[in-house]
Amino acid sequence: MLKYINETYIFVSKFENDMSNILNNNNTPPIHTNNLHPVLDGEKPQLYIETYGCQMNVNDSEVVIRLMQENGYSYTEDISSADVILVNTCSIRDNAEQRVWGRLEQFKQLKKKRNDLLVGIIGCMAERLKEKLLEESKLVDIVIGPDAYRDLPKLVMEAKGGQQGINVMLSREETYAEISPVRLDKNGVSAFVSIMRGCNNMCSYCVVPYTRGGERSRDPESILNEVQELINNGYKEVTLLGQNVDSYDWIDPNNEKNKISFASLLERVAQLDRKMRVRFATSHPKDMSDEVLHIMAMYSNICNSIHLPAQSGSSRMLKLMNRGYDRDWYMGRIEAIKRILPDCAISTDIIAGFCSETEEDHKETLLLMQEVGFDYAFMFKYSERPNTKAARKFEDDVDDKEKTKRLNEIIELQGELSLESKAKDIGNIYEVLIEGVSKRSDKDLFGRTSQNKVVVFPRKHYKIGDYVYVKINKHTSATLIGEIED
Ligand code: 5AD
Ligand code: SF4
Repeated sequence: MLKYINETYIFVSKFENDMSNILNNNNTPPIHTNNLHPVLDGEKPQLYIETYGCQMNVNDSEVVIRLMQENGYSYTEDISSADVILVNTCSIRDNAEQRVWGRLEQFKQLKKKRNDLLVGIIGCMAERLKEKLLEESKLVDIVIGPDAYRDLPKLVMEAKGGQQGINVMLSREETYAEISPVRLDKNGVSAFVSIMRGCNNMCSYCVVPYTRGGERSRDPESILNEVQELINNGYKEVTLLGQNVDSYDWIDPNNEKNKISFASLLERVAQLDRKMRVRFATSHPKDMSDEVLHIMAMYSNICNSIHLPAQSGSSRMLKLMNRGYDRDWYMGRIEAIKRILPDCAISTDIIAGFCSETEEDHKETLLLMQEVGFDYAFMFKYSERPNTKAARKFEDDVDDKEKTKRLNEIIELQGELSLESKAKDIGNIYEVLIEGVSKRSDKDLFGRTSQNKVVVFPRKHYKIGDYVYVKINKHTSATLIGEIED
């Protein structure tokens, strides 16, 4: 059944026995694969896309929608009208993948009703599982990895003809630099801009270097053009995305001496419009330089918020994790942030129960969290990922009950720290960018402070996209509550 056409594609003839049935099916909608034939939006085949995982995946879905639009598809948020369903997947932990498998089971019902409906798996799971997704699941028609999205329209067209298609080639160059993403966040206020792709760090627990490939930086001119376009369209906040933004390093292919570091890119983005807020994620403790912190201090539109994943407070664990720093180094970076940017919020990622983690290692993590006083954190149980260094070399020997206990202690402590962080804000006045109407009451609006904290307040005569000064009066467990100071 598997035909290897070349190393890039594997076509599987899905309907080998009933191809004629498909070709003669008069109910099959017309396939418009390019813009040569003018078609009304209603006539165009509809693309529905569901995104799991990180912000990079959200931005990738935005790129995919543009690529498909340029090839005659129109984007729908209504799954029942979809001709093509794409699931942009995440492999970082096993439960992220399980959710996708569950979702595929649900699509089975839709496929039973419509035999011309196509389902594609894109993103990290596609890259990790490759043709297994086609073999093990009879539900998937297309499998495309993160560096192969340009091939999507072609593979979709071939799948319409009954051929399953796969392209999971990773690239050393692909950054989708010139593709203008279709913004999924409808508030028209904040947008993601990818500045690099992939990761070279090889943290021993992490599947990302295998699913997203090696690091490459995007041409700064294309980044600046994209941000300028957002400014022209009234956007007020941009988040520069990369797995490790601090190692952004663009070298001009025409002149190797012409280099741009993350600090200078950040400065150039901030200079485009002082009313445009600039955020970035994610920073890596081993690479985060004082230069970046000084640039942040110089530009008030660069938000005072740094996401600096610690993963553990134990130097022994950090070594096994291959993080490239120890506890003292991490605390040194925290000290630099607090010195150069006293108002900066600091958030983190923590993994509980990594291979051989003892109660003492775990206690060191709790202590580090207390010492830093993180404003918020993303906290996970270690999940072994096949073929990573940890899976090959170390034993996943902290039992699940113990992992859960440690994770709960971490979550409980962070709950207290987050409350302390919000309590400190009471009585202060913050500049807030209004992002939307509060879910609880349409009389209230919400927005975020520079420190990335959500604030809810009565709307008065203000609207989404305005900057307002809000005095903080109280807080709940999740948000600050305040009032606009006119
Ligand atoms: N198990 C649990 N958490 C993980 N992360 C990455 N890989 C794993 C894994 N195998 C976490 C790290 C990372 C965040 C994005 O996900 O904390 O910073
Ligand atoms: Fe994974 Fe480490 Fe790269 Fe982050 S820096 S994506 S944790 S390998």
